[in-house]
Amino acid sequence: MDKSNGLRVILFPLPLQGCINPMIQLAKILHSRGFSITVIHTRFNAPKASSHPLFTFLQIQDALSETETSTHDVTLLLTLLNRSCESPFRECLTKLLQSADSKTGEEKQRNCSLIHDSGWIFTQPIAKSLNLPRLVLNTYKVSSFRDHFVLPQLRREMYLPLQDSEQDDDPVQEFPPLLKKDLIQILDKETEILDSYTKMILETTKASSGLIFVSSCEELDQDSLSQAREDFQVPIFTIGPSHSYFPGSSSSLFTVDDTCIPWLDKQEDKSVIYVSFGSITTISEAEFMEIAWGLRNSNQPFLWVVRVDSVVHGTERIDEQLHEKGKIVNWAPQQEVLKHRAIGGFLTHNGWNSTVESVFEGVPMICLPFEWDQLLNARFVTDVWMVGLHLEGRIERNVIEGVIRRLFSEAEGKAIRERMELLKEKVRRSVKPKGSSYRSLQHLIDYISSF
Ligand code: UDX
Repeated sequence: MDKSNGLRVILFPLPLQGCINPMIQLAKILHSRGFSITVIHTRFNAPKASSHPLFTFLQIQDALSETETSTHDVTLLLTLLNRSCESPFRECLTKLLQSADSKTGEEKQRNCSLIHDSGWIFTQPIAKSLNLPRLVLNTYKVSSFRDHFVLPQLRREMYLPLQDSEQDDDPVQEFPPLLKKDLIQILDKETEILDSYTKMILETTKASSGLIFVSSCEELDQDSLSQAREDFQVPIFTIGPSHSYFPGSSSSLFTVDDTCIPWLDKQEDKSVIYVSFGSITTISEAEFMEIAWGLRNSNQPFLWVVRVDSVVHGTERIDEQLHEKGKIVNWAPQQEVLKHRAIGGFLTHNGWNSTVESVFEGVPMICLPFEWDQLLNARFVTDVWMVGLHLEGRIERNVIEGVIRRLFSEAEGKAIRERMELLKEKVRRSVKPKGSSYRSLQHLIDYISSF
């Protein structure tokens, strides 16, 4: 029996797809090492408890209206969630610990810790008052989590407005490998509300007992790990990519359309371009049509995820001709899709989960980042690892057609695929015995077992 058996972990994910998947993966990993798992979650975007019969799920009332939860403004959503979940979370956690204490007879013998998403900023005083060790789980790349704390300062100091457009392609010294034009795009969308939210995340993280990067590994974050250790002054664990431990997503908030797999079975090896912009991004109808025609004109078969709410004003005008070469689904089993022998490229928004999943399967990317960390992730893909091509924000049919042709081309495409193969092997080694993530996971388990 595992030595940590009998220990309990309480997990508190943010109710967003890109955050629930990694947290549930961590739950599965810890459960397989003998921990019992309790997941406290909101009513909004509640994870499917029936998919995880071995975990205990406790729902708290977030009291958000449907109008509030259907907003496309993620900062607003996170602010509202943090505001409305504090008391219900405190109540739920207190009750849970009281019942555990009454069983063990003593607070000290609880053998329990809390792991919450970095986006929850009210947990510190609650855990402290309950004498509960608390770790912060982060679903981003280490460098983007770190560097985001520099944004408020950059906004204040110099970058807005950027006077000289000739500087667009200059690197941002404080935020490598970001370019000035990326920074402008981030600062343009990020607000002062977000700056103060970010500040709270930083404080909550620094006051924690540890920081877990569940979707990253040393091999992808060499540039920033030692700096992050200095910044946060808490133990840092990079144990990813977490989806590699338990492949297949059983924590999808959307209904998965599996019909794309038999469709992929009929396509030639490495011929299909997979297109998905994650669970949050929305595009305009005009952008949708440009992408559609770019895909069609590239002559490459494509599989495109178009969520019901992802195109502003709907997709009624999809032309039949577009379907000739492609398949459109509302939600795909993405990890299975990326593994499929028919996939030759991924047109992605570079959410961190999608980026890592693509690297893990060795699928070269076409980068179309929209906001936040996506811009930094995309620069790593194209400028540092050189395993993809960048659309530079140009959603125009001829640009999209051109970039797809380049990716599938003999010379340029081949070199990108070769580099991707090397990166894939490096990342895969990290989760194997003696690999960096494997060792970091063992340290994490020893650490939380010692509480
Ligand atoms: C959000 C932010 O937008 C992103 O910038 C940040 O890095 C993480 O949080 P999201 O936009 O949803 O995430 O993108 P991403 O991180 O790529 O996560 C999407 C997840 O949904 C992936 O695990 C992917 O496998 C899954 N997915 C996506 C599916 O299972 N099916 C789909 O059709 C599309």
